[in-house]
Amino acid sequence: MASQNLPTKLLYLSYADIDSVNLSMGEIIDAVEFSLIEKAHGRTHMPPKHWIPSDNRRFFSAMSSAVPAVGTAICKWQSGSSKNTDYQLPYLTGLLMLNSVETGLTFAIMDSTWITAKRTAAASAVAMRYLANPGTKTIGVIGCGTQGRMHVEAFLTECSEIHTVKAYDISPTALTEYIKEVEGAYGLQVIPCKNAKEVAFEAQIMVTGGPIEANTQRTIEPGWLEKGALGITIDYDCYWQPSSIRAVDRLFTDDIGQMEHLKEFGYFLDLQTVISELGSVAAGLSPGRSSANETLLTLNLGVAVEDAVIAKRVFEKAEAMGKGTWLDY
Ligand SMILES: NC(=O)c1ccc[n+]([C@@H]2O[C@H](COP(=O)([O-])OP(=O)(O)OC[C@H]3O[C@@H](n4cnc5c(N)ncnc54)[C@H](O)[C@@H]3O)[C@@H](O)[C@H]2O)c1
Repeated sequence: MASQNLPTKLLYLSYADIDSVNLSMGEIIDAVEFSLIEKAHGRTHMPPKHWIPSDNRRFFSAMSSAVPAVGTAICKWQSGSSKNTDYQLPYLTGLLMLNSVETGLTFAIMDSTWITAKRTAAASAVAMRYLANPGTKTIGVIGCGTQGRMHVEAFLTECSEIHTVKAYDISPTALTEYIKEVEGAYGLQVIPCKNAKEVAFEAQIMVTGGPIEANTQRTIEPGWLEKGALGITIDYDCYWQPSSIRAVDRLFTDDIGQMEHLKEFGYFLDLQTVISELGSVAAGLSPGRSSANETLLTLNLGVAVEDAVIAKRVFEKAEAMGKGTWLDY
């Protein structure tokens, strides 16, 4: 029998380990853009995410991809729920396995919360790069939790001209804490809003980050987005009435296949409009914004190619810096 070099060790990286490698938001945005472009050129493999709604308020999902350009494949197993605040847990929790595409071996297991939080906002910054009018001054944020914070960091990294954030959260306490934190950290003006309509007024980009719950009262009505604005959903279509999605001039997503797959679970049911992929726009294969007056919306579902590229960067930096814990295989 041929000799077998079975691995003996793999690296475990906790949230704190990952945070300590100091991957900057600028690096993350560029890496996310790279992953979307690789996907657009058909150089990645990524089936739709495996979706398990254990009840209307909690899902489990497995997200997997292979990105040969960075030599890795990943599988991220996570759960999300608005119930997690009752347990003082983040909305999303999970773990990610990082494998070599060459040998197939797992060389790291890591927390997925940090990567998901950062890469989601970074993908919105990529959308800003290609779909927003230049020189954004005012952004709108609905849902002032982790993503509400990450999006300010990502948008500011992409455009330093932002001076105002219009914000709404269903929880007055969350909104108050958010205002204090964002004003303190970035010196921006944060205007508290009473509802989503108020947020949309005069916002050049508006992101919705409420709960992902198929069976919900959708809020945003046609015409609330300003002419020329860019809407970004990271909560599927749960904040947007179907007519408000149909009302925009053009629609985008990070993955058409995944959107189609999610229809089975009660999302995007009324969506028949032609839609382009964000990565395809970034790769120059589909048109992005064509005039300053167009009102655009991108449905960013979160894709596993982004996780693969960021997880690889995190692993490389962590290994070089001696972070994490080596475990027996
Ligand atoms: N598409 C993606 O790639 C992606 C990635 C990460 C998170 N998400 C989704 O983004 C959403 C937010 O995630 P998070 O980590 O910021 O969660 P979080 O719990 O940190 O923050 C959510 C905030 O939304 C508020 N909220 C709840 N219902 C609301 C409503 N109806 N209107 C306004 N605010 C409301 C909560 O009070 C909380 O402050 C979740 O649905 C999550 O699944 C999507």
